[in-house]
Amino acid sequence: MASSLPSRHRALVLEKIGAGFEVKTVPTPQAEAGSAIVRVLSAGVLSYHREIYYGQRHYDFPKPIVGGISAIARIAAVGPDAVALHPGQLVFADCVIRARDDPDSLFLTAIHEGMNERSKKLMRDVWRDGTFAEYAKVPLENCIALDEARLCKELGYTAHDLMYLYLLLVPYGGLRDIRLEPGETVIVCPATGGFGGAGVQVAVAMGARVIAMGRSEKELARLQQYVKKGTPGASVETVRLTGDLDADTSALQPFGPVDAVIDLTPPFASKSTHLKSAIRTLRRGGRVSMMGFVEDVIHWNVMALNITLKGKLMYEREDMVLFVKMLERGLFPKGKDFVDAKTFKLEEWEEALEVAAEYAGIGKVVVIEP
Ligand SMILES: NC(=O)c1ccc[n+]([C@@H]2O[C@H](COP(=O)([O-])OP(=O)(O)OC[C@H]3O[C@@H](n4cnc5c(N)ncnc54)[C@H](OP(=O)(O)O)[C@@H]3O)[C@@H](O)[C@H]2O)c1
Repeated sequence: MASSLPSRHRALVLEKIGAGFEVKTVPTPQAEAGSAIVRVLSAGVLSYHREIYYGQRHYDFPKPIVGGISAIARIAAVGPDAVALHPGQLVFADCVIRARDDPDSLFLTAIHEGMNERSKKLMRDVWRDGTFAEYAKVPLENCIALDEARLCKELGYTAHDLMYLYLLLVPYGGLRDIRLEPGETVIVCPATGGFGGAGVQVAVAMGARVIAMGRSEKELARLQQYVKKGTPGASVETVRLTGDLDADTSALQPFGPVDAVIDLTPPFASKSTHLKSAIRTLRRGGRVSMMGFVEDVIHWNVMALNITLKGKLMYEREDMVLFVKMLERGLFPKGKDFVDAKTFKLEEWEEALEVAAEYAGIGKVVVIEP
């Protein structure tokens, strides 16, 4: 079912790595079988979007491309095979795109073409462009319906607040993957970044006892206060990272034995020993979700205590659906206790990318409002 879409719309187009974006007026995509066209309300900006688009982080993708990642959007038109989604509906437009005839071939919208020829083909030929645009074409199954009346009217979230989902969903995917249970103790490391801070909030909402590790005493204190204020009755323990394997292990020991660890280390910190320290405090049968980049985690504990080390890229579709239910049930704080979004227009993309590199941590998100 098609609605009246403008023939052209504005989008941030990158011709080549390092060239910077240009606001261009381009043809508006049309809905076909299997797709929806969404009007983007709020598009998330990663802390490392600038690194990707300027080449310091070597993620491959076809060019030219419209930048972006996930978005909060309103359905503008749907293909003839849509049976549940309809124009006007509020959705989370997800960035993880899977081949329908081979779901193991997947890629991340506008930032990474995936790991095999199939995902590269799918990105290059069909779902190339991201959400830094007025309109975007999204697979139907990537549009996760949001109950607008509940989330926006009753719970008071704005579209920009809801964009925080793109950060929360990643650690949720990892924590669900290692089956974190209410009451268990989980270490989040490092906890002071965007995804780490979100991981703390998610683990608290999942009913876990949370140990947050990080280098910055100031950010750890803010994180602790943030959780206390937003979720009365919840508390987070913090451990300051020194970079010394034994000292960090000793600092964690009083909280052990620990059930689970989630790691979200950026590639440039891959030599840090904090994950090894965390693994040393795990109980027999403990689990680790490895969502970041740490080079050396092998310790005799892994073998001797039957530790599971599990890699995880993003999350599954079912995780998104479940997570939205948690949000709709009111398990997360409201207003600024949930997130404080910094908003930029398409023309302000350069500032948005710059600010996103710095404005990170629990309760912070940077978005583009096209
Ligand atoms: N597996 C997945 O699906 C998935 C999805 C999304 C992201 N990720 C990964 O998650 C990483 C984190 O992203 P982000 O946006 O949260 O980044 P971020 O906001 O920049 O946070 C980076 C974190 O790393 C810490 N850090 C930096 N250098 C360190 C060092 N030498 N030793 C210990 N800690 C250090 C920072 O602490 P300070 O504040 O002390 O600097 C901060 O807590 C990304 O780089 C990405 O690759 C994985």
